[in-house]
Amino acid sequence: MSSAIYPSLKGRKVLITGGGSGIGAGLVEAFVKQGAQVSFIDLADTISEQLPAGAATFYKCDLTDIPALERTLAQIGTVDILLNNAANDDRHSLGDVTEAYFDNRIAVNLKHLLFCAKAVAPGMKANGGGAIINFGSISWHLGLPDLVLYETAKAGIEGMTRALARELGPDNIRVTTIIPGNVKTPRQMKWYTPEGERQIVEAQCLPGRIEPKHVAGLALFLASDDAELCTGHGYWIDAGWR
Ligand SMILES: NC(=O)c1ccc[n+]([C@@H]2O[C@H](COP(=O)([O-])OP(=O)(O)OC[C@H]3O[C@@H](n4cnc5c(N)ncnc54)[C@H](O)[C@@H]3O)[C@@H](O)[C@H]2O)c1
Repeated sequence: MSSAIYPSLKGRKVLITGGGSGIGAGLVEAFVKQGAQVSFIDLADTISEQLPAGAATFYKCDLTDIPALERTLAQIGTVDILLNNAANDDRHSLGDVTEAYFDNRIAVNLKHLLFCAKAVAPGMKANGGGAIINFGSISWHLGLPDLVLYETAKAGIEGMTRALARELGPDNIRVTTIIPGNVKTPRQMKWYTPEGERQIVEAQCLPGRIEPKHVAGLALFLASDDAELCTGHGYWIDAGWR
């Protein structure tokens, strides 16, 4: 299958959080293929071997450390497109939640998205616009088990998207949420047995497994000028899982 090339993405400055693995690595690869100038933040440099050396710039930073994140964002400078992708979906039940764990889960799944948006918005405004794409999740829409704090944060991301789209719209900054279904990544394969995978596919309308490249395809469109009037909403890539 041949994939779309968006002329408006060529040369654009793109920042991807959590670009070291999973969907984020797929995003790095996809935006590099568009000729964009890609930077990504992660805990470890695990850049895709598919990429030529130097194709994307890696910044090592713990996104839950907001002062360190702000220093990293200042180093990266102005960006045209921000993909707030990083998260952590460790399983937990209500009985396990302490105050410290609550704060930690909100820090890794919600807080940094807002501080990244806050840091890049003035530069986007000065450049005449930009796109911020937040990564939500189907999990809270389905009410999946053992993820109460992750789902709470992911629900918050959709609310934050709507609020920021309203606040930043006058500056021509578009803010959207991508809502993935179950995406086949190395980490996800830790949680799912072949039987579990089969159950997910059976609950989808389409029989295929979603891979990072499918999520990247939606992200490329939302980041491009072709999506110039798309803002304030969630866009699903879930093969019709319900
Ligand atoms: N894979 C799925 O099935 C699925 C489903 C729904 C939503 N999502 C969402 O899509 C996004 C990407 O998911 P994924 O499956 O690729 O996740 P992943 O766990 O495979 O990758 C997340 C990346 O973020 C990085 N990261 C995590 N915490 C960090 C921190 N504190 N500082 C810096 N980097 C950090 C990790 O090192 C990793 O490289 C997430 O927002 C996730 O919630 C994924």
